[in-house]
Formats: sequence, structure tokens, C-alpha cells
Amino acid sequence: MDSGKRVTFPLLMAVGTAVLGSLQFGYNTGVINAPQKIIEKFINETWSERYQEPISKGSLTAIWSISVAIFSVGGIVGSFSVGLFVNRFGRRNSMLMANSLALISAILMGFSKMASSWEMLIAGRFVVGLYSGLTTGFVPMYVGEVSPTALRGAMGTLHQLGIVLGILIAQVFGLESILGNDDLWPLLLGFIVVPAVLQCVLLPLCPKSPRFLLINNNEENKAKNVLKKLRGTSDVSSDMQEMKEESRQMMREKKVTIPELFRSHLYRQPLLVAVVLQLSQQLSGINAIFYYSTRIFEKAGVEQPVYATIGAGVVNTAFTVVSLFVVERAGRRSLHLLGLIGMAGSAVLMTIALALLEQLKWMSYLSIVAIFSFVAFFEIGPGPIPWFIVAELFSQGPRPAAMAVAGFSNWTANFIVGMTFQYVEELCGPYVFVIFTVFLLCFFVFTYFKVPETKGRTFDEISAGFRQTSASGAEKHSPEELNSLGADSQL
Ligand code: GLC
Repeated sequence: MDSGKRVTFPLLMAVGTAVLGSLQFGYNTGVINAPQKIIEKFINETWSERYQEPISKGSLTAIWSISVAIFSVGGIVGSFSVGLFVNRFGRRNSMLMANSLALISAILMGFSKMASSWEMLIAGRFVVGLYSGLTTGFVPMYVGEVSPTALRGAMGTLHQLGIVLGILIAQVFGLESILGNDDLWPLLLGFIVVPAVLQCVLLPLCPKSPRFLLINNNEENKAKNVLKKLRGTSDVSSDMQEMKEESRQMMREKKVTIPELFRSHLYRQPLLVAVVLQLSQQLSGINAIFYYSTRIFEKAGVEQPVYATIGAGVVNTAFTVVSLFVVERAGRRSLHLLGLIGMAGSAVLMTIALALLEQLKWMSYLSIVAIFSFVAFFEIGPGPIPWFIVAELFSQGPRPAAMAVAGFSNWTANFIVGMTFQYVEELCGPYVFVIFTVFLLCFFVFTYFKVPETKGRTFDEISAGFRQTSASGAEKHSPEELNSLGADSQL
């Protein structure tokens, strides 16, 4: 087999260990959905003990909403701080260090019941949000930098696979008969200690990013040795050649800070693409499903809503696997387009199902079909692609700053959907998904006109494509032209 496509054991080990962090992010996204009533009971009891009176409905809702949403606030702060770590400590060691946050959070949340303190729960959710925000920068960056060009999309999709598996595990563990009950919920939240310890043991056995070693630290021999292991061949000259080319380019652009990223016209186009792709992921409405699916299914008249939620988690995982296998063949751009249009169609179906529910009882089945296909189309493109494409759109110099801005956009949109969905739903009733349909169609049009294909092109070729368009007036070029510009620089 062509060594550029070989999935070696060291590569799998490096990527598999890194995505334990993605699993943590997914787990904490999904974990708070099922045990809501049980944890609310704990908050109420703690309040009564302390103040000798039961908690008011308003205060309970406020404490609960804060516990849920503070996770994304942590994510916003964490994602924005990615650049502080990755250049100083390297990608691998940054991931290692972040685990201290996961451990602190596990202690805070795991012991909150024993200490009768819902404040500890809120603090723990914030800290694990910080951890997750950092992770959404560290993991795609590390994975993109250790993977060969021909496998970058498939390996990048493993980040999303980690996330969806985390969500699914949380949904299953959250069942009342497993950990989602009065006695065991602290274990449900404290479980994050397990992947954290596992990652701490495995990461030191994984290689550092060869790009970081060569381009940032100028350690050519170390970079070469790491590459030989990762690629499973002693001839790594083409990889080294490509990294050196990127390094030379970087000498010209140096390290790029966030303000410089915004100021330079060179990065305007890829930055716009990166940010809009993040928005397309979150404003598609996916987390309205993952935060509130049980409630949506309940309203749609589904009899066992918890199991329908787990069903959504299973479909979510299955279709991420599908994407994993097709992303290097079909390409990022076409999969993203297909995903967006499929989600828009499913959202229309969902609206029909909710609107006709009163007249036709069987519409509740249609709502299940609509949600499952919404989730399936999400994982075909808008789920995995935005996460790894940012690392592809930028070269080593601006990459950390770009990941921070992209992560910040993603988490902010995540926070807005999480906070406002319930209120908007009350206002719009069954028509709430129409809003997401409109967003999805706008993102489809944007992707069609502005997003270039990055499949099979080296980091350097991709940024060369953007450099040339920005030099000759970006607005006039279609994505197809960008592709051919990238290909030209190969000659
Ligand atoms: C993506 C999103 C995340 C969402 C998940 C659902 O990773 O970033 O917010 O919960 O997909 O699978």
C-alpha cells in the first residue's frame, strides 16, 4: 500500500489517545440531559437544609440553567486560550496538562452531593467546560499535524467520533437503572476521571507533533524519527520536504496573533470560511436535539422519549462512522453541502410532524424519523468537517490563532442555541425548526460559493490557493478556481 495512506499502529495510537479528550467533551455535552429531575431534587434538598424553606421555582430554574450553560461559557474561555499553550508547551503536552482540569472538575462534581453544595456542581461544570474548550482546539490540531495528507479527513473525523461516542455513553449511563438515580448521580458526573487517567497514562507514549518539532522548535532529527514511526517507513523525505516548504513560508509570516489574523488581508478569506463553517455546525440546531431531545420527543407524543433519545445517539454514532469512510473519497465540500440540504429537508419534515400532531396521532412516528434523519445528515458533513477543516485552511503560523477564533465562534453559537432554544420554542411552537431551516439554506449557499475543496491537498497548497486569490482579488474566484490554484502550486 502507498505509505501515504498507511494506518500504522503509532498513528492510530496517537489519534486514539488524543480523541479521549473529544470523548470527554461529548460526555459532558450529553450527561446533563437525563438526570435533570434527580439533580434538581438534590438542589432543592440542599436549599431547604440551608435556608429552612423550599426553593422557589424561579431560583431552581436559574440554578439548573446556569449549571447547564456554564459548560459552554467555560468552552468559550477555553477555546480562546488555545494559543497560549500550543506554541509554548507543544500540542501533546498541552493535552496532557489539560487533564488536570478534568481531574479538578471530577472532584468538584463527584463530591458536590457529599458536601451538600450545588455551587461545587456549577464550578465543576465550568472547569470541565474550560477543559472541553481547550480540547476542541488541541485535538484537531494535533490530529491534523500527525496525519498524512491522504488520511487527514478520516483521522480528523475520529475527533467527532470521540464526541458522539461520549454523548452516547453519557445517555446510556444516565438511564435510571444504571447511574442516573438518587444515589449514583455523583458517580455519573465524576466518571470523567476514567478517560482523564487513561489519557495521562497513554499520552507520554505518543509522539509529539512532527510539525511542531520541525517548524516551531527546529528539531529536524527528532521530527524525522517521529515521522518514520508514524508513517511506518524509513523514507519520509516527501513529508519532510513539504514541512520545510511550510516552514520557509512561515519565516515570511512569522507567528500570527489573533489581532494580526483579523488585520491581514491574506487570512480574510480562510477566516471567513472557518468561522461560517463553525456557525453552520451550531446554528443547524443540532444541540437543540442533544440538549432537549427527551422533551421534544415527549411533546411529539412519543411514549418512551428516553429510548428515542438513545436512538438518536446511536444514529449519530453510526453516521459518523459512515462519514469516516467516505470523507477521503467524496471530499469535504460535497459532504458538507449534502449534510446541510438533508438537514434542511429533515427540519421541514419535523415541522410538518409537530404541526399536524393534534389531528394525526401517527405524526409522532414521523417526528422520530425526522429527528433521526436530521442527526444522520448532520454527521455526514456539518458535524465532523468544521472541526478539522480549520487546521487545513491555515498553515503553521496562523493555525493556533485561527483555531482559537473558530473555537470561540463555535462555542458562542453553542451557548446561544442552548440558552435560547426553550424560550424560542415557547414563542414559535411547532414552527421552531423553520428558523433552523432558513439558517441551513443560507449556509448551503455560502458553502457552495465560498468553500474550497481541501481533500488530498497539502497544508501548503491550500494556503497557497488562498494567497493567490487574495492577491488577485478573492471575490472573483469560485471554489473550483481556488482548487485549481492550489493544484498549480504543486507543479
Ligand atoms: C459536534 C458539535 C457538538 C455537538 C455534537 C453532536 O461535535 O460541536 O456541539 O453536540 O457534534 O454530535
